[in-house]
Amino acid sequence: MKSRNISITVEEYGSFSELATSDKQLVQQAREASKNAYSPYSHFQVGAAVLLSNGEVVAASNQENGAYPSGLCAERTALFYAGARFPGAAVVAIAIAAQSGGRFCARPVYPCGACRQVMLESEMRGGQPVRIIMDGEQAVEVVQSAHDLLPLSFTLE
Ligand code: THU
Repeated sequence: MKSRNISITVEEYGSFSELATSDKQLVQQAREASKNAYSPYSHFQVGAAVLLSNGEVVAASNQENGAYPSGLCAERTALFYAGARFPGAAVVAIAIAAQSGGRFCARPVYPCGACRQVMLESEMRGGQPVRIIMDGEQAVEVVQSAHDLLPLSFTLE
C-alpha cells in the first residue's frame, strides 16, 4: 500500500478591503445578488457573481422550492445561466457571499459538493482555471481553481 498527500493553497484575506479592486467588485455583486434570494425555507440568502472571459458578469441567488430538492444554489443558478446566455465565454472567476438574519456571514461560505462539480465542468469547458472567491465579513478566502475544492473528482475523461 502506498499513500499520497493532496494539498491545496487557500489565500486568506483579513477582510474585503484587502482584495484587489476587480475581486472587490465581484464580491460586491455577489453580496448584492444575495438580496434577491428566494429562501423562505432556509432563510439563508446566497449570492454568486460569475465573471466571464467576455467581461460580462452574471449574478444570481439561491432559489428554493416547497418541494425541497427542486431548489437550486446560487452558484449553479449563476453558472447555468451564464452558460445559457454566453455559451462561448469561459468562466474566469466566481464570487460567493451569503447572509442570514440581515447580516452577512462572518466566515467564508464554501460551496456545496454539487456546485463544486458544476464549477469543475465549467473550468474544463472553458479551458482555464476558475478563481473561487468565498466571501465573509471577517475573512475572504480564494482558491485559484475548481480542482482545489474538488480533488479526486469525477470527470468523463
Ligand atoms: N446554498 C447556496 O446557494 N450555495 C451554497 O454554497 C450552499 C447552500 C443555498 C441552498 C439553500 O437554498 C440554502 O442555501 C440553505 O442550504
